[in-house]
Amino acid sequence: AIGDLLADTLPASVAALARDAAGCRRCPLWQPATQTVFGEGPQDAAMMMVGEQPGDQEDLAGRPFVGPAGQLLDRAIREAGIDRQAVYVTNAVKHFKFEPRGKRRIHQKPDNSEITACAPWLAEERRLVRPALLLMLGATAARAVLGRTVTISRERGRPIPLEGNTQGFVTVHPSYLLRLPDEEAKRREYAAFVADLTHARELLA
Ligand code: URA
Repeated sequence: AIGDLLADTLPASVAALARDAAGCRRCPLWQPATQTVFGEGPQDAAMMMVGEQPGDQEDLAGRPFVGPAGQLLDRAIREAGIDRQAVYVTNAVKHFKFEPRGKRRIHQKPDNSEITACAPWLAEERRLVRPALLLMLGATAARAVLGRTVTISRERGRPIPLEGNTQGFVTVHPSYLLRLPDEEAKRREYAAFVADLTHARELLA
């Protein structure tokens, strides 16, 4: 699959991979989107975080996790004692999927065909970065990495062995925390998220 994606040469760097992905037409999501939002961070990062797909602000900025979910993620990362600059941050799907509603663009969940179409990019990011720890944020990321349906509540917070000497680790998506209706649940779930991130960092130590 990687072979037909990248013809005869595999990119030797994430930067080269990102240049290739800028012209990706593997699924129809590229067309209404502003641009490909590729992963970013050090190629030698020990930790990789995988989200779902870029949101409205990421689509405009061309960078992952810079909008509201990204700001919450940044705060939790900091509280867990992790340096975001040292983390490679990416998404399962590299284009923003949305439905126009007036002037607004409403986020739509990527379906399995879009996750599958985008999977070679994530596979290449993993091959190049070879993280010791791969943190999956939410069910879409977990499906993209593990290739099956994952119930976050059942599998969160404990290491899942992956190929290539990588430990997988599942937790919630920060957008889930933003959507919680009451403050008490928000506080509780945010604390559990920070606890998961802290646990993930400790696995690296
Ligand atoms: N949500 C994601 O999953 N990824 C982003 O980059 C932004 C929001």
